Amino acid sequence: MSLIHFQKISKIYSPKCTALDNIELQINSQEFVSIVGRSGSGKTTLLRLLIAEEKPTKGRVFFDKQDVHRLKDGYLPKLRRRIGMVFQDFKLLPQKTVYENVAFAMEVMGSPESEIKETVPQVLDLVGLPDKTSNFPNELSGGEKQRTAIARALIHQPDVILADEPTGNLDPIHSWEIIRLLLKINELGRTVILATHNKEIVNTLEKRVVSLDEGRIVRDEQSGKYMLY
Ligand SMILES: Nc1ncnc2c1ncn2[C@@H]1O[C@H](COP(=O)(O)OP(=O)(O)O)[C@@H](O)[C@H]1O
Ligand SMILES: [Mg+2]
Repeated sequence: MSLIHFQKISKIYSPKCTALDNIELQINSQEFVSIVGRSGSGKTTLLRLLIAEEKPTKGRVFFDKQDVHRLKDGYLPKLRRRIGMVFQDFKLLPQKTVYENVAFAMEVMGSPESEIKETVPQVLDLVGLPDKTSNFPNELSGGEKQRTAIARALIHQPDVILADEPTGNLDPIHSWEIIRLLLKINELGRTVILATHNKEIVNTLEKRVVSLDEGRIVRDEQSGKYMLY
C-alpha cells in the first residue's frame, strides 16, 4: 500500500487551462522522487493537491489511506503536520532570527516552551546551522536561508518533505548542499518529493523521476534522467 496515491487526478483551472490531466501516481513511504517538467507543466499544482490547498476537478488524492479532500473537521491540520513544505523563495519571516523562524512553527501549534527549547537546536544542528541561530534572514546566504526553511519544515517530524524548486534561487554549489541535505533527510526515513527543472541535479541523483508535460505523466522511471523534450 503506497503512502501517497494520486488516483486519476485532473485539475482544470479554466476551459483553457488543464493543469493536470488524469494523473495516476503512487509514492511509497521513504521514496525519493523527483517531479520534473518545464514551467507550467503542473508540478506545483500536484504538490498543492496533496496538502489540500487545491481541490481536484476529478479524481482523489490519498495520503496514508485517507482521502485528503474528504477529511473530517480538524483532520486537515493534522495531515499538514505530517507534510513539511519547502519553497523556492524560502518564505522566512524577515523580522525573526533563524531560531525564532523555526521556533515560531512550534509556537503556533501551542507547543510548550521547554519542548521548543529542546527541539529547535536539534533540527538546526541536523540541517547544519548551529552557528547562525541568532542571524536574521538578510544576514544569511541563499543556502543558509533554505536550510532554515528546511529546519522549519522538519520541526513536526513529518513523514514527507515536499520541496518545490528548492534550488531555484541558489547557485550550483549551494544547490548541491541543499540536495545533499534532502538526501540525508530521506536516508533518515522521510519521503522526499522534489519538484524541479534542474537537469544536472536530477540526472546525478539516480532516483525515481516522474516527468510531466502539459499536465500528463510522460515518463516514470526508477533511477531516471531528465529527458529533453
Ligand atoms: N491558481 C491558479 N489559477 C489558474 N491557473 C493556474 C493556477 N495555478 C497554476 N495555474 C496554471 O496551471 C498550469 C500548471 O501550473 P503549475 O502547477 O504552477 O506548473 P509548474 O509548477 O510545473 O510550473 C499553468 O498553466 C498555470 O498557469
Ligand atoms: Mg511550480
